[in-house]
Amino acid sequence: LRASGSISRFPLIPVRGVPLMCSIANNWDSVWSFCPDPADLLIATYPKAGTTWTQEIVDLLLHNGDAEACKRAPTPVRSPFLEIFSPPPIPSGLDYLKNMDPPRIIKTHLPFQLVPTGFWENKCKVIYVSRNAKDNLVSYFHFDCMNMTQPEPGPWEGYISKFMHGELSWGSWYDHVKGYWAEREKRNILYLFYEDMKEKRNILYLFYEDMKENPRREVERIMRYLDLSVSDEVISRIVELTSFKNMKENPMTNYSCVPPPVFDQSISPFMRKGEVGDWRNHFTPEQSKMFDEDYEKQMKGVNIPFRDLI
Ligand code: A3P
Repeated sequence: LRASGSISRFPLIPVRGVPLMCSIANNWDSVWSFCPDPADLLIATYPKAGTTWTQEIVDLLLHNGDAEACKRAPTPVRSPFLEIFSPPPIPSGLDYLKNMDPPRIIKTHLPFQLVPTGFWENKCKVIYVSRNAKDNLVSYFHFDCMNMTQPEPGPWEGYISKFMHGELSWGSWYDHVKGYWAEREKRNILYLFYEDMKEKRNILYLFYEDMKENPRREVERIMRYLDLSVSDEVISRIVELTSFKNMKENPMTNYSCVPPPVFDQSISPFMRKGEVGDWRNHFTPEQSKMFDEDYEKQMKGVNIPFRDLI
């Protein structure tokens, strides 16, 4: 990928109340009318929750752990980003999708209500990955410093406030994690008496912290959800190939494919830390307290089992 011309940070424009980069908002009709194939898989996340990690696990599972096959192209080429419109001549996510045959691994950061309806009509499998709010926020802050197409992050203190008010690209983290969770719960009820259907038709809702705690368990969970069966040895290989260290060194997964005028990895590497609890190095006790109080209000009555927040 090569970018030309000057790169400018895209301002945000609301689409049905959700702030999106103007490059996306201005092309919204083409995103909204995208119709997937029933065999396509959607990986949905709030930005910085572990998307790339999950994309790599899925691609390796689909290729029976073949490392070379999964080095055929960088992540965004193997697994296109549905709604992204990067500075030309970088192709859009829709351009990549047009030239690929199903089954495709499609990435999105869109909140539930903005996911094109074809995904639901065609009963596509959907993997949602979430990450505890404070680590997600820290990771997003560093990303916005280095991604020259995202709005200027501004100072840290103000960034916390923007996150809490849902003013960052792709909107409110709280609404995002709750939106997919509510849909998952709805389907749980729908398939109450059909355990098998529940497993297959549900949204697979994963947590970054679980993946860190026991990557093997989560890789196996994804394998079952995708109706795949790979050997124990292949699972071990996939766990190893998708370790933070290996993905950081792998040019096909570390986003070195995006040129420095767009991703300035000298400011902050895409594969930054890959840890749980890094928020403790960033939040002051006062900021943490203020965040927690607001969090309780925004997450009231919601039982999503997030970990490592306090
Ligand atoms: P940090 O900034 O906390 O390091 P996304 O892919 O959704 O943009 O998420 C990026 C975040 O996931 C970054 O978090 C990145 O380091 C982390 N990440 C990527 N691959 C990972 C892996 N294999 N193991 C753990 N964390 C990973």
